[in-house]
Parts: sequence; structure tokens; C-alpha cells
Amino acid sequence: MTEVPIRSAVQMVLRDGWAEFVFGQPHPSLLPVAAMQRAAHDTFAAVGSAPLAYGSPEGVWPLLEWQRQRTAALEQIDLSAEEVIGTAGNSQGLDEVCTLFTRPGDLCFVESPTYHLALKTLRDHQLDLRPVPIDAEGLRVDLLEASLRALEADGRKARALYTIPTFHNPTGISLSLERRHQLVALAERHDLLVIEDDVYRELWFDAPPPPSLFALAPRGRVIRLGSYSKTLAPGLRLGFVTCSAAQALRFADDGVRDSGGAPSFAMGMIAATLCRAGGFDAHLGLLRQSLRVRRDALLRALDRDLPPGCHVTRPGGGYFVWVTLPPPVTVDRLLPAAERHRVSFVPGTAVCIDGRGQHQLRLAFSLLTPDEMADGVRRIASAIADVS
Ligand SMILES: Cc1ncc(COP(=O)(O)O)c(C=O)c1O
Repeated sequence: MTEVPIRSAVQMVLRDGWAEFVFGQPHPSLLPVAAMQRAAHDTFAAVGSAPLAYGSPEGVWPLLEWQRQRTAALEQIDLSAEEVIGTAGNSQGLDEVCTLFTRPGDLCFVESPTYHLALKTLRDHQLDLRPVPIDAEGLRVDLLEASLRALEADGRKARALYTIPTFHNPTGISLSLERRHQLVALAERHDLLVIEDDVYRELWFDAPPPPSLFALAPRGRVIRLGSYSKTLAPGLRLGFVTCSAAQALRFADDGVRDSGGAPSFAMGMIAATLCRAGGFDAHLGLLRQSLRVRRDALLRALDRDLPPGCHVTRPGGGYFVWVTLPPPVTVDRLLPAAERHRVSFVPGTAVCIDGRGQHQLRLAFSLLTPDEMADGVRRIASAIADVS
């Protein structure tokens, strides 16, 4: 058999000699290779060919039940088996939510900045995207309210809000508890469907985050997207949705599931074996510890080497730090200089839909080692000096 080079098979292409802050992906040493190998063996030994059949449309039952119990305990909520649905990760989950619960042309609010690839999915569904700014406490609920009122005065209604309230991508900021309550109440008053992307909830380093919007809201108001991409591995393509039982029925009944069964069924069966044997918590513990070390190393390097006038967020979890540069430095000018120094980042302009972001950049601390990050920050500082 011809050997296929692994590097050409994966999405992330790393350039030799570059400090790649651009990728929000775990370092390969943080992926649970041995545990997955064992779980795959144990799964097939226990259930034979079952993982290679079509799975039931709701998702992988052993994994869903494990997740249901975990979520109910962590968030101290009642959660029935009818309120959890399996997905192939948050990207697929978001696409499915748009298919099932929106129509082309619907108005949808998003944080600006937000996860740039979610914007692509929302645009695939031809949603009319409207920005809501964020500050140190997260989404500006007061400005969202003003926009909703202005729309209503115009005889229009918004359909949805896509939000990442916990360890937000790209800023690392979490929405305060007070604003979570305000947001849920506002969504209720304006009949706004909240799509909560909760991909980083379990990756906290200092203290657990505030409750999800899903946990705070009446059922039916919030569809929460959870994923194993950040806690186990993105290649599994596994996630879950918590929503109302009525919404869950719509997922389970959609054409793709009717035809193809559970998304990522075989991987889900293997992941269920791993999770139910305690492998999830063991891996999560190591991951949190390692990501905390990486975050601290990045913050130390930024504090040491960035010029005065820069502002850096200090996230309590997740993958990202958001840097604001002093006004004369724009990312349009910084990017070419950074390329000359062989260092990459996501420019603020790629993640804002309100014309802002010229003075901001996103750095991921999930992929690089502390030494690589220290070196990369020196390169960014040199690039800033070049364009100042
Ligand atoms: C906010 C957010 N949502 C979704 C995703 C993608 O998640 P998944 O791999 O579960 O599709 C990412 C990955 O970077 C993310 O940061």
C-alpha cells in the first residue's frame, strides 16, 4: 500500500521556522492517542460490529447519556434524555441549527469580534448579520437592546443571536453573570433565539465559569452547542446540543440524520468507551494544567516584550489572548512586517463585522510551547517596532 504523508492529510499546515499563533488547535502532545487506541480496541471487543452500523439519528446513546449526566451535575440542572442531541461538532451543529431554525434573510446578531469561521457558516445560510460590540464583561446587552428596539420601531424583528459567552473566541472574555441574566430576559422579551456556542466551557484554569445561558433560560430560548474538539480532539468530529425536547425532535427528524444516522457514530462509540471509563476527566485534568502553563507563559512574554500602550486580555480559560495595539499601529501594516519575522496571528479585521479590529490581534496559546511563544512574542515586538 502506498504511504500517505500525514502532514498533507491534516487541515493545519505549519511552516518551518514560523511561530504560528494563528491556529486555535491543541499541540499534538495534548491529543489522547493512547487512550483512544485502547478505547477503540475495547469498544470493538465489547460490541463487535455495532459501531460500523448506522447509529440512531439522535446521536450515540452511550455518549449522550454520559454527557447528560455530566452536564446535569456540573450545571446543577434537570436535563432529560430528550433534551440532548449528538452532533459532529459545533461547526456541524451550527450549520444544522441554521438549517432547521432560520430562513435566508433572517436577521442574526453576532458579537463583533467573533469566531470568524462561524461567520462563514451563518453567511452560507444567507443570514443578515448585525454586530454587537463587547467589552471587558462580554457582549454589550444594552447595545443589543437598543438595536432590537430600533429594529422593532422599523417594523422588523431579529431571529437569532449567535454568541460565545464563555472564554470567547477571539478575546477569551466571559460574559458576566449579571449580563447573562439580562441577556436571557432580553431574548425572552424580544423572542430571540439564542445560539450559545459553548465549546470552551470545560477548559477553565482558575475558577469554573458562570452558568451557561442554556442553564439560565426557559427551555426553548437557548440552543447550546457543546463539542469534544477542544477537550478531546478535533478530528473526532463529535459534539452535542442541549435544547428543548421539541427542538431536539426537529434535529432527530432532519433529512441528513434520517438518511445517515448518528453523526460520527463509530468515533462516538469509541469516545463513549473512553469517557465512561474515566478517560475524559483524566485527559481534561492534564489539558487544563498544560493550557494554564501555556497561557501564563504567553502573558509573561507579552508583559515583558510588548511596547507600552498595548492592552492584553487575561483569559480564565479557553485558547486565546486578544491584544490591542496602540493607535498608530494597524494590523494592515503589522501583518506584512510579521510575515517578514515569520510569526502569524489572526488580525482583528478578520473577526469583526463592524469595520473595527485594525488595532487588534488574536493569539492562540494552545499549539505552541512556552519557549516557542516567548520567541514568537519577541518577533511580534520586532514587527511592531518596524511599523511604529
Ligand atoms: C467558538 C468556536 N466554535 C466552534 C469551533 C469549532 O468547533 P468544532 O470543532 O466542534 O466544529 C471553534 C474552533 O476553533 C471555536 O473556537
